[in-house]
Amino acid sequence: MEIKDTLRGRSFISLHDFNAEDIQYILEVGAHLKTLQKKRIPHPYLAGKTLGMIFQKSSTRTRVAFEVGMYQLGGHALFLSPRDIQLGRGETVKDTALVLGRMLDGIMIRTFDHEEVIQLAQWSGIPVINGLTDLLHPTQVIGDLMTIKEHKGTLKGLKLAFIGDGNNVAHSLLFGGAKVGMDVVIAAPDGFGPDAKILELARQDAQASGAVLSVVKDPEEAVQGADVLYTDVWASMGQEENAEEKEQQFRNYQINQQLLKQAKPDAIVLHCLPAKRGKEITDEVMDGPQSKVFDEAENRLHAHKAIMAVLM
Ligand code: CP
Ligand code: NVA
Repeated sequence: MEIKDTLRGRSFISLHDFNAEDIQYILEVGAHLKTLQKKRIPHPYLAGKTLGMIFQKSSTRTRVAFEVGMYQLGGHALFLSPRDIQLGRGETVKDTALVLGRMLDGIMIRTFDHEEVIQLAQWSGIPVINGLTDLLHPTQVIGDLMTIKEHKGTLKGLKLAFIGDGNNVAHSLLFGGAKVGMDVVIAAPDGFGPDAKILELARQDAQASGAVLSVVKDPEEAVQGADVLYTDVWASMGQEENAEEKEQQFRNYQINQQLLKQAKPDAIVLHCLPAKRGKEITDEVMDGPQSKVFDEAENRLHAHKAIMAVLM
């Protein structure tokens, strides 16, 4: 397929910035690239292009997906560790952006402060992809939507129940669900629900699609009628303080066989990974027949290739 230029030059910072058609188009390109890769048909859509990848936090899936994805698209990816680049020694984001923008065709950044990603995009003048911030994890959710669509055939009208911390992944799931018309309910302990501003923005987005977005306290209430159960670690990177106390508060926010039984019989289970097995998800569920977490992890590759191919 020929890739349309409609999103060329854009940054990918939040799903809130894209409309439903854009997201469906990225999913379509992702499915196409997956088919090509499975058949080993070369697809050098980004021949001669270069992506810089800045990681201020650890990563397995995101790094490998972008690096391998860029190679498969005929381009090149550079891993830029803060230990090695001058950003880690205090060079400003603005100056870094002004320089990288003159040498690269795109930048992927994983960092703490969401504002840094916005600044990088503002000053570099090239597409910047948010590979996770404390606030959002939008590339994850493209892979998740792709996985849900593969297993359920559709997205609109489904219900996803997220059990745990109202974190970056939960926020991007709210935006993603709002755009594609999938209901999202977050079950979180008091004080750990999603950011009120994100919820409000996502609800505005949901008016067009009809998706219902809600926050509850009780995991059992959340999973009733759910097509997808989703969880993530109770403490995200950089927020691991008071871990023991947190574990007490989150004890009941675990996807186990008993909770899974209360969802739809054909519900699938997702987890962005890495998982703390035995905490937010049991081995039995994660290794069980309803778990699609490794399909989900694989789809990061295909989804991220699609993101790069449409933007760069
Ligand atoms: N889910 C996810 O982003 O995984 P990594 O932290 O390994 O990249
Ligand atoms: N919420 C997790 C996701 C990791 C991919 C974190 O930010 O650590």
